[in-house]
Amino acid sequence: PPRPIISPSILAADFAALGDEVARVLAGGADWVHVDMFDGSALAGGNFTIGPPVVAALRRRFPKAFLDCHLAVEHPEKYIAPLADAGASSVTIQIEPFLQITDRAPGGDAAARLDAALGFARRALGAIRERGLRAAIALAPATPLEAVMPLVEAGDVDMVLCMTVECGFGGQRFQEGVLAKVAALRAAAPSLQIQVDGGINADTARAAAAAGANAVVAGTAVFGAPGGVEAALAGLREALV
Ligand code: DX5
Ligand code: ZN
Repeated sequence: PPRPIISPSILAADFAALGDEVARVLAGGADWVHVDMFDGSALAGGNFTIGPPVVAALRRRFPKAFLDCHLAVEHPEKYIAPLADAGASSVTIQIEPFLQITDRAPGGDAAARLDAALGFARRALGAIRERGLRAAIALAPATPLEAVMPLVEAGDVDMVLCMTVECGFGGQRFQEGVLAKVAALRAAAPSLQIQVDGGINADTARAAAAAGANAVVAGTAVFGAPGGVEAALAGLREALV
């Protein structure tokens, strides 16, 4: 199996020293750099973070870094071209905005509405891949696996992100109930890259890996580690093997 991926979330970094913070985690053995882009909408818990210009700045300073961009925004399709131009490596979009479009539309049964939502999501994922980036779909803790399975089965995604907290803020508590979803997804897709994000530390990373995750995002546990970034990354690495 491929080496597990550790992706520190810069949401927990000092934004006033962002370049140096990212240099530190890359030197400490991070595989990817997780960039949370939130638009202030309810989907993002009302939080507003950063956008493509920051990705471009990171790309200029770190030409070879893998920039793992997580878009929790109402209209992800608007930001795909700007993110590709900025030098993103991968774009992860949430399924919920697409489910909401069809939830608001009158008529049709549940299956037809899900089908329509998946069509919108597929179009955005296709646009990500067309720009040469890896495409991933994320689902909130309460969103059932059924909402993304057709995308997995059709090979429309390179990764599924199972959120283990609600999108929006670092430092929240890991939702253990999501592990059942990770395990079900792993059973259905033995070679899929499955990422977890939210409340990840060495203990919860170990539990997530045991359930089948092979990529973890960690913000507070890395940038806020009292023992320093390097020890935190080493602890995560050990938990994942
Ligand atoms: C949650 C974000 C995460 C967040 C994780 O809204 O998607 O990437 O930064 O932070 P921690 O690791 O502190 O839970
Ligand atoms: Zn994230």
